[in-house]
Amino acid sequence: MAAPLPNRNADWWRDAVIYQVYPRSFADGDGDGTGDLAGVRGRLSYLAELGVDAVWFTPWYLSPLVDGGYDVADYRTIDPAFGTLGEAEKLIAEARELGIRTIVDIVPNHVSDQHAWFRAALAAGPGSPERELFHFRPGRGERGELPPNDWPSQFSGTTWTRVPDGEWYLHLFTPEQPDLNWDHPAVRKEHEDILRFWFERGVAGVRIDSAALLVKDPELPDYVEGVDPAPFIDQDALHDVYRAWRAIADEYGGVFVGEVWLPDAERFARYLRPDELHTAFNFNFLTCPWEADRLRRSVDDTLAEHAPVGAPATWVLCNHDVTRTVTRYGRADTGFDFAAKRFGTPTDLGLGTRRARAAALLSLALPGSVYLYQGEELGLPEADIPLDRIQDPMHSRSGGVDPGRDGCRVPLPWQADAPSYGFGAEAEPWLPQPADWARFAVDRQRADPDSMLRLYREALRLRRTEPGFGDGPFTWLDSQDDVLAFRRAEGLVCVVNLSGDPVALPSHERILLASGPLADGGALPADTAVWLRT
Ligand code: GLC
Repeated sequence: MAAPLPNRNADWWRDAVIYQVYPRSFADGDGDGTGDLAGVRGRLSYLAELGVDAVWFTPWYLSPLVDGGYDVADYRTIDPAFGTLGEAEKLIAEARELGIRTIVDIVPNHVSDQHAWFRAALAAGPGSPERELFHFRPGRGERGELPPNDWPSQFSGTTWTRVPDGEWYLHLFTPEQPDLNWDHPAVRKEHEDILRFWFERGVAGVRIDSAALLVKDPELPDYVEGVDPAPFIDQDALHDVYRAWRAIADEYGGVFVGEVWLPDAERFARYLRPDELHTAFNFNFLTCPWEADRLRRSVDDTLAEHAPVGAPATWVLCNHDVTRTVTRYGRADTGFDFAAKRFGTPTDLGLGTRRARAAALLSLALPGSVYLYQGEELGLPEADIPLDRIQDPMHSRSGGVDPGRDGCRVPLPWQADAPSYGFGAEAEPWLPQPADWARFAVDRQRADPDSMLRLYREALRLRRTEPGFGDGPFTWLDSQDDVLAFRRAEGLVCVVNLSGDPVALPSHERILLASGPLADGGALPADTAVWLRT
């Protein structure tokens, strides 16, 4: 087992900058067109230079990759496309040498239909103990030809699939992702063992996928609009699961970040009570449109809902499930909604990029931790994927209406003039890279002081060296309605101009960093942010 992290760093997660690696698309070490752990190991110095505190890896386990690895066949094996367990251990250790902690992704709501448990359940037949690990039920209707209930899928379409012997099984996502039965002690025990398995290998934290979905109302009743919580989300019994998990994490000094999509702030905060999860993703902030009053309210609500449970907020602009930030912020509707995703939505990338630069300084100045999704630091836009190359089941299951999530999962450009922009060798990347991506390549941005990469690097450097950032006091300053201005400790001030016109800066000693050039006379232009020392 890896040596415990020094105690003085026990609270690192309260204001960490955590970089999300999507291993399939980060860097391709063996040159077969798919990113892998060798690729990540070869690029750790890039992450150290960027200045992140931790890396969260989306699932790297054995998987048929029907849902990009969120269909896990075996938690104790690395998918051969990505590498080996020995390599994962080396990666965790090498990252730690560089001061970077590792967070793995656990997907407790479901497994792959290729998982040994599900194969055994199919083989064992109705009434068997093997089937009790999942939600198998007879159908409704005279001959059982109708699904057992009417629950909507998270990925459009049905949530039940019938097997040849006539029973149906529940899957909130694709049929290849059968839901586990969290009322079964073996399911709980297995996940506690999986947590220990990864903590023993030196990981510092665990991201919990679909964290509010695990426990279902045991009656599996129909969904009734307006009854909150719905029978497949946010069930009270779920909190016992996380209390048990927290005790395990505490043994290892590990931390959790939950993927909790819940509109109700009070119910959301319950997951962050001191004996449950340490943190959860702030999807309220991620989905918020680029409008001053909405952002102000999002910040206020976030801080208000976290305060009573003593948990730090997280600030998230992007991840592997949502439209890339620069594309979103260049659209007429700058918010994010899964249901509204359509092909061909126009965007102004210049405008979106300006806003994304300002949003970077905004989120990095707020109290709490920040998540940065690979490519966000390069200002990558959402890519258009040719129809015949789209792999995401969200696309196929929507009947082709939803473009799916592959547009934000395209392999990274490292070198402007190399094949696949230096992602790998000659082999074609698993998703095609746009023809005009040389301008986003890491080598070009490194050399350009005005690039998004250099902005992020400088912002992360300042955030590390200025003690006023991260966890700590936060106060809004008086400003016009469409300007966000706030003070942190040590005289640090952040101003973000969301009005259409330049605004005068408050009096200050020094400008520490600006997301874009200032206007004549030192005014702050529209869609620009600054960090000031006052
Ligand atoms: C989470 C993941 C997403 C995945 C889903 C099902 O929302 O972020 O990528 O498809 O869970 O596991």
